[in-house]
Amino acid sequence: MEFDKNKYGFETLAIHAGQSPDAEFGAVIPPLHLSTTFAQTEPGKYTKYDYSRAGNPTRTSYEQCIASLEGADFGFGFSSGCAATSTVIQLLKAGDHVIANDDMYGGTYRLFNSVLSKFGVEFSYVDLTNSENLSAALQDNTKLVWLETPTNPTLKISDIKEISKIAHQKGAMVAVDNTFMSPYFQSPLALGADMVVHSATKYINGHSDVVGGVIATNNSDLAEQIDFLVKSVGAMSSPFDSFLAMRSLKTLAVRMRAHEENAKVVAKFLESHANVEKVLYPGLDSHPQHALAKEQMKGFGGMITFYIKGGLSEASTFMQKLKVFTLAESLGGVESLVEHPGIMTHASVPKENRDKLGITDTLIRLSVGIESQEDIINDLKNALA
Ligand SMILES: Cc1ncc(COP(=O)(O)O)c(C=O)c1O
Repeated sequence: MEFDKNKYGFETLAIHAGQSPDAEFGAVIPPLHLSTTFAQTEPGKYTKYDYSRAGNPTRTSYEQCIASLEGADFGFGFSSGCAATSTVIQLLKAGDHVIANDDMYGGTYRLFNSVLSKFGVEFSYVDLTNSENLSAALQDNTKLVWLETPTNPTLKISDIKEISKIAHQKGAMVAVDNTFMSPYFQSPLALGADMVVHSATKYINGHSDVVGGVIATNNSDLAEQIDFLVKSVGAMSSPFDSFLAMRSLKTLAVRMRAHEENAKVVAKFLESHANVEKVLYPGLDSHPQHALAKEQMKGFGGMITFYIKGGLSEASTFMQKLKVFTLAESLGGVESLVEHPGIMTHASVPKENRDKLGITDTLIRLSVGIESQEDIINDLKNALA
């Protein structure tokens, strides 16, 4: 049975879209198809799949599910978030210009600046919290606006609707990295974006055991080009990773609600603590774009960034004292993680840029997990003391 994305709610789609019981045995969970190749009845004649780089039944189920959650007609599973990002840029050609956030995941910056720029695509980095900056940066050859909102790590928020309007007037496409919000809390396509991208490694998979990426779109021309790139480049999601990520999607809604419930309490706790300088969380009244966050997001998510009082030594001691939070890169898993963006996830951003963006020695990023709220707060309390 097909589950029409326009007729069913998020939780229902997460459990059923693309996952009808299999025709042969009625298995409720779609089987894991590890086969790399598929039998042909005569040369060039096959049912649906010929070779797993081009397409695989387990991947298709996952792609249909994730597409429906983003309100999209087309979804694509990749081997990592960076592979998905890279594919978006591969839609362009040498001489094309991309405008991206000044603040974004360090690996995306490295991919743009040190890899893809070698192939003649030009990148500009702009503070997109102010849409007027976009108008000023648009060039005749601007073909894409790359928007990460909220940004990693300083949680700056851009107006997806406004940015899409301005970009489209100039004939540029908009791709939104929706990793921090997940499809549960933010729907960029409904706000006018052309493509939505995820590091599925984060909330989508949510259990820190798959590295993956996703692109979703409603534009059939773009979908055709992305499909061609998947087949030609081979950066697609493996059947096993697709299987695991699809399994995880079933609980995305409940996980996101639990992440947010804990994060809201943690953000308030940190804001009131004497050893904390400043807290950045879109759900706090003190967040500079709190009003926009309320308008364009359905929740505020589980990511919090804060400045600890003191210097690098205090930041480092705090992170080492935590027990419930593990000191590790990544985010969006059920377990709480803490990291130091300046030394860890954003080390590839030049120091000068980091200083400008406020990625300082005392900046600490928390991915608030879904452990008991009391244990999370006590852990932070002990480490801050
Ligand atoms: C916002 C964001 N986008 C993209 C990526 C890249 O994803 P991956 O690590 O799955 O390649 C990350 C990784 O941390 C991220 O935080």
